[in-house]
Amino acid sequence: MTEAGTFVFDRFSESHVENPYPLYRRARAEAPVYYADAFGVWVVTRRADVRTVLTDVERFSSAFGIRTPLVAADGVREILAEGYPEVPALLNEDPPAHTRTRALVATAFSPRRTRELAPHVQRLTDALIDGFAADGEADLVGRFALPLPLRVICELIGIPAADAGQVRAWTEELKTLTSFDATPERQREAAHQSVAFERYLAALVEARRADPRDDLLTGLVTAEPPEDAGGRFSTTELVSLLITLIFGGHETTANLIGTALLLLLGHPGLAAAIAADPARADSLVEETLRVDPPVQGSFRTVVADTELSGVRVPAGAQVFAVIGSANRDPAAAADPDTFDPDRARPDRHLAFGRGIHFCVGAALARLEARTAITTLVRRLPDVRLADGFRAPYLANLLHRGPTRLEAVWSR
Ligand code: HEM
Repeated sequence: MTEAGTFVFDRFSESHVENPYPLYRRARAEAPVYYADAFGVWVVTRRADVRTVLTDVERFSSAFGIRTPLVAADGVREILAEGYPEVPALLNEDPPAHTRTRALVATAFSPRRTRELAPHVQRLTDALIDGFAADGEADLVGRFALPLPLRVICELIGIPAADAGQVRAWTEELKTLTSFDATPERQREAAHQSVAFERYLAALVEARRADPRDDLLTGLVTAEPPEDAGGRFSTTELVSLLITLIFGGHETTANLIGTALLLLLGHPGLAAAIAADPARADSLVEETLRVDPPVQGSFRTVVADTELSGVRVPAGAQVFAVIGSANRDPAAAADPDTFDPDRARPDRHLAFGRGIHFCVGAALARLEARTAITTLVRRLPDVRLADGFRAPYLANLLHRGPTRLEAVWSR
């Protein structure tokens, strides 16, 4: 801790990017709710407070922009006006609007649809491994953890497989649009690409309206709202919702698979144990979500002056509830910093959030991670980390996962 009770909470500090957990531990003990100047947000690290921030929708609002740059360069707003306006979509909605959207999404995104996806997830997993098995080495993030969820979310929504690469490129452009370090020129280019993405999605929506199929998009287009809860989704709403689903559905899961593989290969004997008893993969996935969650936290806006752990947080303030810290709070788990794939209740984590915003894709993410792990250890029984490999991490405050994972095996 530096003077005046402030922590250095710097997403670009190398030690923090590589391992944020020592900082979280100190924050929980010394300053569980503190104002981080560099970001202008209140950082909340204790499990009980994180739960409160995530679940108390009266005090903590989820309204924020996903596609709108905080500081838009000249011309960016004019370019974006050529596309579809950003409207809140689930993640960034408060009740009662959230209640209607969630009900509509729930009818289309049913547990049955997730279960039905299992054979597709298996087929896509095998096809990816077919692509590199004979090489004896691969970057398992670039060739496996990242493409799998991307293809799954495209197939789920009903986006043609041939367009998956373009969809990925567009999501990168959207990230550039809202990143702090894009030059004005780069921001304008990203705004053009964002408009192209929106038009592509709108055309897809119109195509399903004219010609329904058995996919999530058709389900969303035709979903009927519960009584007194507004009408069906408009095209503008669906464009925003699809962007939320595509964003929420692929990089998060890629980071889960990448981190789980890193933990798996770092623990000799675990791969063989899972190959012998695939049900053990479930505990590995839950323990990964607990000890090193892909989504490190969530933002909220304080609706009225409030108090957390005895600290007064003013109305209008931005709060960052650190899930990665809450999961390692000693109040939540014994020996919380230890990765223990045999932990009795590894699922007592907040990795998918809590309350009304609980992740709609949790079952799908678990299915993908389980399939990826069990199939990899079965097909490449002696897979191991390349000699001396040390994982580089995303330089990001919110999302966490290895950007590369070099593995080797005998051909
Ligand atoms: C390991 C993978 C994933 C993680 C760690 C994750 C994490 C989360 C978290 C923490 C939240 C709550 C955010 C908040 O309260 O502010 C959330 C919500 C959400 N997630 Fe996920 N997610 C994952 C996978 C997915 C997938 C596969 C999809 C879509 C197919 C998805 C779509 C969503 C959506 C739409 C919401 C908003 C729900 C609402 O506001 O009602 N996520 N996710």
